[in-house]
Amino acid sequence: MGEKTLREAASERGLRFGAAVAADPLTDADYPDVLQREFDTVATENELKMGRLRPSRHEFDFEDAERIIGFAREHDMYTRGHTLVWHRMNPDWLTPWTYTDRQLENILREHVHTVAGRFRGQIDAWDVVNEAVADDGTMRESFWYRRLGQDFIDDAFRWANEVAPDAKLFYNDYGAEGLGEKSDAVYELVKGMLDRGVPIDGVGLQMHILLRGEEGRNPTPEEVAENIERLADLGLDVHITEFDVSTAHLEGDHEERLEKQAEYYRNFVQTALDTELDAFVTWGVADCNSWIYKRADGDDHPLLFDEHYQPKPAYDAVMETLTE
Ligand code: XIL
Repeated sequence: MGEKTLREAASERGLRFGAAVAADPLTDADYPDVLQREFDTVATENELKMGRLRPSRHEFDFEDAERIIGFAREHDMYTRGHTLVWHRMNPDWLTPWTYTDRQLENILREHVHTVAGRFRGQIDAWDVVNEAVADDGTMRESFWYRRLGQDFIDDAFRWANEVAPDAKLFYNDYGAEGLGEKSDAVYELVKGMLDRGVPIDGVGLQMHILLRGEEGRNPTPEEVAENIERLADLGLDVHITEFDVSTAHLEGDHEERLEKQAEYYRNFVQTALDTELDAFVTWGVADCNSWIYKRADGDDHPLLFDEHYQPKPAYDAVMETLTE
């Protein structure tokens, strides 16, 4: 590794560079060192999801989330809270509800108030609502939507703003990174929110590259740049929130795949520098922590550091891009 860290190189270019973090590996040997040395931004991977926070209707368990946020603050890092409202990873007691719509709305309000309020002043940016738009650009038929209608989105942002007025409030989604039906739908959604005076500050582009295998369906850097600019023109901040590049669908042997992967990282970090993107977050620290690696039983290597926390060709490509 060179003398400069990724954290330093990104900061010199005015770009926040982050990783999704889990509580458990914070006590591992290499994980916390690499994390605080190479990254200046932390996103909570699972620990702030409703299912993890709420073992039962009237109980909140903040311990794991607080370990992550505590670590981040101790190391002077920017914090992204993920996520207040999602259709997945909710507690078992929530979905087979017998609540009235009114009660469900109260549960959601109480959730947003309690969680965003608890971390007031400690979480810099919140993914308030995650993945509310379906792949075809219509509203996703989640149970929040079916029961509460589209208002649940505006409401969640207003509630978060009531208790955490200084946090930046984001709408976050996948498949809306480039141009197309879904990204148009997200654009219209957030524009409508701004028109209605809803306190939204930003849009998160997940960017799980090649996850479903087809290279053709991935957005080009040019499209992503155009999308970032149109969102920024609305006055919104834009973050890349969950970047990873699955190697499983790239051609060649392991080394060749890592070289191809490095080009994706290079191109999109260049896009970040060429646009008004404010933060670039990878979804994990090292390959062995990645959800994609785990799902593929170690046969997919999406991140900047390998299983032994050594920098990969993608790391060198990012460093070159940031320092040239
Ligand atoms: C993933 C986590 O990385 C996994 O550990 C978990 O089992 C499932 O969720 N989009 C999101 C993230 O917004 O919350 C997801 O995180 C990945 C896809």
